Amino acid sequence: MEIIIQPTPEAATTIAARVLARLIREKPAATLGLATGGTMGPLYRELVALKLDWSRLTTFNLDEYVGISPQHPQSYHHFMWENLFRHVNVSITNVNIPDGLAKDVPAACESYERKISSAGGIDLQLLGIGTHGHIGFNEPTSSLASRTRIKTLTPQTLRDNARFFASESEVPHHVITMGIGTILESRHCVLLAFGKKKARAIAEAAEGPITAMHPASALQLHSKVTVVLDEAAASELKMQDYYRWVYEQKPDWQKI
Ligand code: GLP
Repeated sequence: MEIIIQPTPEAATTIAARVLARLIREKPAATLGLATGGTMGPLYRELVALKLDWSRLTTFNLDEYVGISPQHPQSYHHFMWENLFRHVNVSITNVNIPDGLAKDVPAACESYERKISSAGGIDLQLLGIGTHGHIGFNEPTSSLASRTRIKTLTPQTLRDNARFFASESEVPHHVITMGIGTILESRHCVLLAFGKKKARAIAEAAEGPITAMHPASALQLHSKVTVVLDEAAASELKMQDYYRWVYEQKPDWQKI
């Protein structure tokens, strides 16, 4: 796991944008795994400003709420169109987001997995992290081998995400999310986290035991993970000086 610590969220966002932009330029028909949440908005703004060619890219989003329509202002469909898709030349037929209104949820989840496989797998999966360590909506105790499926949100996530809704009671209790097993199959995971409220989750993910109680810790099993943090999110890492030193020593050919 490569951990990159930047002075501010803005500087960290620029690093993540560069990683994505390089892939998009080198592999114009790449498959991207996309994420939502407050952390991703500025990243998408930066990507839009780079005016990259999205016409041959295929995208798969991590998750979606169950029971709200794609037009709902808090749906992840809506988030993606507002923050990214309507600003770039992505082909609508190449955009995939779990269907929160699917009549047959297990069948929709299986079909989502099949589509990811048919697309040749995900080249780069963007990830945020929940305050209790969820990735996508894989809540604590999610199987580390899980695939795309329905999940029930924890009270912690309902509280955390209530800020986007009029009240906590409006946050849907169910979601469809790629599984941890699905995420681990992507070829490169890029996780972003900013702010003190993410510091514990990051320390446990990177330096704690691998456990279903902290889903992001499963990323320790992946061979290519880039974690981009601001100072506050890095503040509880025991090895933070080492990570800074490693980044400063990077050989030129590895520089981002
Ligand atoms: C949401 C999403 C996650 C995201 C996380 C962090 O619930 N399902 O994919 O990583 O919470 O969100 P934020 O960036 O708003 O802190």
